[in-house]
Parts: sequence; structure tokens; C-alpha cells
Amino acid sequence: MTVATIDVSRLGQRLDALAEIGRIDGPNGEWGNARLALTDEDRAGRDLVVDWMRALDLDVTIDRIGNIVGVRAGRGADLAPVMTGSHIDTVGTGGRFDGTLGVLAGLEVIEALNDADIVTERPLAVAVFTDEEGSRFPPDMLGSLVYAGGMPLEAALAIEAVDNQATIGDELGRIGYAGPGPCPPLQPPHAFVELHIEQGPVLEAEGIEIGVVTDVQGISWTEVSIVGRSAHAGTTPMAMRRDPGFAAGAIATFVRDLTRRIGPPLVATVGRVELVPNLVNVVPARATLTVDMRHTDDAQLAAADALLTTYLEELAVAEQVEIATRSLASFGSVRFDPSMVERIASSAERLGYSHRRMVSGAGHDAQMLARICPSSMIFVPSVDGLSHNIAEYTKPEHLEAGTAVLLDVLLDLASM
Ligand code: HGY
Ligand code: MN
Ligand code: MN
Repeated sequence: MTVATIDVSRLGQRLDALAEIGRIDGPNGEWGNARLALTDEDRAGRDLVVDWMRALDLDVTIDRIGNIVGVRAGRGADLAPVMTGSHIDTVGTGGRFDGTLGVLAGLEVIEALNDADIVTERPLAVAVFTDEEGSRFPPDMLGSLVYAGGMPLEAALAIEAVDNQATIGDELGRIGYAGPGPCPPLQPPHAFVELHIEQGPVLEAEGIEIGVVTDVQGISWTEVSIVGRSAHAGTTPMAMRRDPGFAAGAIATFVRDLTRRIGPPLVATVGRVELVPNLVNVVPARATLTVDMRHTDDAQLAAADALLTTYLEELAVAEQVEIATRSLASFGSVRFDPSMVERIASSAERLGYSHRRMVSGAGHDAQMLARICPSSMIFVPSVDGLSHNIAEYTKPEHLEAGTAVLLDVLLDLASM
């Protein structure tokens, strides 16, 4: 039987071509891209990937939440497919590899199998999940969450954008990706394997090529809305102020302090802050901010959330503002199927790549697929541990290593 071989330059060309859509250039030659979920840039990226899927003779379906699934036939037509994939939507300062590597490495595996005329027992599927980032439409991993039955489709379609109140249903219709396919699917995948950049510093620091992901840590996103009273910045005595701008800053300081009190691996981020009217000489009337907290231990994450809630109650009284909160995402930690984790580890071993088991600090579609089929993830190193930054980079030899392990594991899973 001919051996399938990965062509890493072909993979690199697809990664760069996709990244040209929504391209952002930095001051020192670094470049990334912005394709927020369901924007025109996301549509253009989706159209390009669907074209590639069709050129590879995949049978492409779009489901009701806009997930794209390309299927390569196997001998056992009725067998549940082995699935790989990830996302192609990005954050506003997105890198060229976050999510896109998992989708395009899946297409590279398909092309290598096509070139080698290899037919698998099970069908192979490559998925593009809608709105993995959750930046525009929270929560994150939305498309895979609905696909796994974790959120009713109608509830997901009604989610409003943080930027213009358009709903997911509106935007799917507008960009032409409100597909007919049932979501959740009639038949779940046989197994799911996702290749993704680590987005952190561990593999690079240890000089290791492959991350064998055992778990994903828990995630809690809270939107905090603060109402005070706008007032003149020059004439209003400090004792008379009801200042949401100050309260927002105090909350950012509190969550940073919380990470010191509770300690690693708790991480906390205030990523979005909006002030109204956001003018130099006006004590703000309102503030809206988000708090992202993560921990590998669900009880510790819940404790951090409870401490934040208590603090907000105290701050509202002290600053005489009204504070309301809304949960944007709340996902417990996920442990991947040990036999699937072992598959990744033994494949890396067999192919001669250095590897280590590790927990994912970021959320991924695989954590949602784990609800409906045995799932696992392959990590490859991120230079400087950087991601959600246009300077995000992974070396070609690591792209090749990750894709070779992906090919090996998918072939093994699809042979039975
Ligand atoms: O937020 C995350 O962990 C992922 O990038 N959606
Ligand atoms: Mn990602
Ligand atoms: Mn991301």
C-alpha cells in the first residue's frame, strides 16, 4: 500500500492564503488576521475552505448553526466517521494558526490520502465549527457546543453580538451559512481528534515537539454592568461621585489580586471595558466589563467566582453604584478519553517525536466533542508562547510533526 506523506509547504500555502482574509500587518513584519465570527471576513474564509473541501471531493454539509463538515467516503459507508477539525473564526488580534491549523491540517491529511489512493474503512470528516472564539457571540466553542447537544439550537440562534445586537440567526442568514443540516447531527462521530497550537509557553520552554492533551481547564466568563451618575470631572467633589470608571478599575485590580491569593493555575483577565460616555471630562455614567477566569480545579474556580460576587456587592455599596452581572460562559474542566490520549502519545512515540502530557489552558472544540464521542488533542509549540496576537507563530517542522501525528492517529481510528 502506498504511504501517505504530508506536504508541509502545501499546508503552509493554505494557512497563508486563509490568513490573507482579514490580514493585519504589524510594525516589525509580523502579520495575523481578524475574522470575527459571522462577519464578512468569516464568510470569505468559510467560502475559501468550502472551495478547498470540494476540490478534494469531500461531501460538504452546512448545519443549522453554520458548522461546516466535509466528509471523505470510506468503505463502510454507514459507519460513523472519524472526525478532525477546529475553527477559522479569530479574535480581533488573531494569529495565522489558532484554529486554522486544525482545519487545514485536516485537509492536508485528506489530500495526502487522495494522492496515495488510500481508502479507509470508516469515512473521514473535517469540521469547521462556528464561533469558537466567542468574542463576538459568547460563549466560546458555541458551534461545537450546539453540535454536542450542550445548548438548544434556538437558544444559540438568539444570542446577540456584543458589537451590534445582531443575533447569530440573523448573521448566519446574512452570510449564507444558515445550513439545513441537523444540529446535533443524526449520527455522532466515531471519534474526534483536534490539532491545535499550544498558545502557551510550555512546549517551547521544554524543547518538546508534541503536546498530548489530557484535560482542558474550566472557564468562567462574567459580564459586569455598572450604573453610576455622569458628572463634571472638574466641579464634582470626590465624595459626591458615583463613578463606574473607578469601579471598573477596582474590579480589574481585585481579580489580579485574587490570582495571587488563590495562586496558580488560576488566571483572570479583564479583556473588555466600555465606558459611557467615554469622554475625558465626564465622570462616566456607565461601565461594562468582562472577567475571564480559568482553573483546572472546578471547586477553586467556583470559589473565585463566589469571591468576585461578594466583592461586587461590597463595591456597589461603597461606590453607590448599581452592579449587575451576566454569565457569558461557564464550562467545567474536561478530561479526555484516556485511550484516545494514549493513542496520541504512542503515535508521537512511534513517529519519533518528543512529547509530553499536558492540560490545555485554552478552550477548544474538542472539549465539546468529548461530550458525544472519544476525543483528544494534539498540541504543537507556539513561539514565545504567544497567541491571540498577530505575532503568533509555529515553525514549519512543528506544523509537520503535528500533522504527521494527526494523519497517523486518524488512519488508525478509521481502519476499524
Ligand atoms: O478563549 C479560549 O480559550 C478560546 O480561544 N476560545
Ligand atoms: Mn483556537
Ligand atoms: Mn483562540
